[in-house]
Amino acid sequence: MISNNSPIGFFDSGIGGTSIWKEVIKLLPHENTIYLSDSKNAPYGGKSAKEIITLSKKNTDFLLKENCKLIIVACNTATTNAISFLRATYHIPIIGIEPAIKPASLITKTNNIGVLATKGTLNSALFEKTAHPIRKNIRIQETHGEGLVPLIEAGKLNSEETSALLSLYLGPMVANNIDSLVLGCTHYPYLIPQIREIIGPDIKIIDSGEAVAKQTKAILLKHQILNIEEKHTANHRIYINTKKNALTALLKDIPSRHLKIIEQNF
Ligand code: DGL
Repeated sequence: MISNNSPIGFFDSGIGGTSIWKEVIKLLPHENTIYLSDSKNAPYGGKSAKEIITLSKKNTDFLLKENCKLIIVACNTATTNAISFLRATYHIPIIGIEPAIKPASLITKTNNIGVLATKGTLNSALFEKTAHPIRKNIRIQETHGEGLVPLIEAGKLNSEETSALLSLYLGPMVANNIDSLVLGCTHYPYLIPQIREIIGPDIKIIDSGEAVAKQTKAILLKHQILNIEEKHTANHRIYINTKKNALTALLKDIPSRHLKIIEQNF
């Protein structure tokens, strides 16, 4: 039986979706959560839509067995390829994440925005549906962040290889006068310091974490399943199907008392 105490479930192709998870637990500190890091199958970005749907279904089934009351697809690639399938298949609220090109289009002054995302996201019909009307007035420069997710999964945030790839991908966007850069993959917020070094201080970086957290609160309220027990201390479980070292490094700012990281094959 689902109750207000039931956890919110998250999944991503790996550890990057914790950038979203962190925003959600910050805004909703009383919510219990379960996060699946499907690192064994990362990256999703180069897989077919069919494969992404199969993996997304497997992850959702796991979370539903754990009695989750709401699912957050903390992955742009899984959202843009599988959310229609998930919403048609399961009857609980499912929140997805898409590259924030619409908000970027509203603030750009140069009418020129950049999007760094995976191939799977940029090639999806859902991305094109959102991008199409924006393209009438605004130039959207899209780049596949090929190779970045495996580097983040390997904990190589500060490596020369990572900086070299970021320069390769972002340099042309900067040269072409973008004033807003959309991070269209939930792994990329972990590279913001390295991205800043390349793009300088003036280009606005936009990601979806805060917006997703606010949307989650609104949906929980709408369905009357917000956990309102003020005294309750939330419990968080993160399952990862590879070694947890890189994940643990990303979570060093989270108090470990109520967080369990579990290495488990799923
Ligand atoms: N975090 C995923 C996303 O937001 C990474 C995708 C991948 O594994 O390629 O798109």
